[in-house]
Amino acid sequence: MRKPYLAGNWKLNLDQAGALDLVGKLREMVGQRTDVDVAVAPPYVYLPAVIEALKGSPIRVGAQNMADQVSGAYTGEVAGTMLSDIGCDFVILGHSERRAIYGETDKIVNAKVKLALDAGLDVILCAGETLDERQAGQTENVVHRHLIEGLAGIDAALSSRVTIAYEPVWAIGTGQVATPEQAGEVHTYLRGVLEGLWGDVAAETIRIQYGGSVKPSNVAELMAVEGVDGALVGGAALDADSFGAIVAFNS
Ligand code: PGA
Repeated sequence: MRKPYLAGNWKLNLDQAGALDLVGKLREMVGQRTDVDVAVAPPYVYLPAVIEALKGSPIRVGAQNMADQVSGAYTGEVAGTMLSDIGCDFVILGHSERRAIYGETDKIVNAKVKLALDAGLDVILCAGETLDERQAGQTENVVHRHLIEGLAGIDAALSSRVTIAYEPVWAIGTGQVATPEQAGEVHTYLRGVLEGLWGDVAAETIRIQYGGSVKPSNVAELMAVEGVDGALVGGAALDADSFGAIVAFNS
């Protein structure tokens, strides 16, 4: 039985007061619940304050990205070791916005995944097809490549520290959520890819989140799909009532 994992990706939103207000409310709502894993990924600069505000809470804190280098002359970058140093639990890697807007290739994503795991961070690795790719019948090819290349060279022993987020690009921030059938098909396919890569025990254990226009009104339906183990939430994670309702999908 995989424990549901609900994570909020704040992207480039909120200010410090708004971030602290949000996590203060989430902390109350989540209490000491252990039947679900809850996580937030604030912008880098708010990480220390959010980590401090969530001390003693089971809510996990992570970054939305990190450098593909260990250290050195890389102006503007933040290393995985720095994130673990300040108390981050995880990092989101390979988000479609990183791939599309900042040109991140699977090779770059793979370098980041390795460095994150080396630094002691857990990883949420995103995979997903664009609308054009879906319409061209390329969905499986694309998500296969995102997983196989993104996880290349990583030992199955580290698989328990990896979560996959299936995020169809056409569903991100568009209000156009994948149907339960569409999500179910790709989640089943991805679990098969993981089985081929790391074996059946790992494939059964790894959680695969769905991401793309998840809201309080559709989360229960998505979470009811076989193989959907959680959600990576953007817009609806910026408001405590809305993310709180998503976390409470099963109550
Ligand atoms: P959305 O974003 O929930 O706003 O669609 C999801 C994501 O990009 O992780």
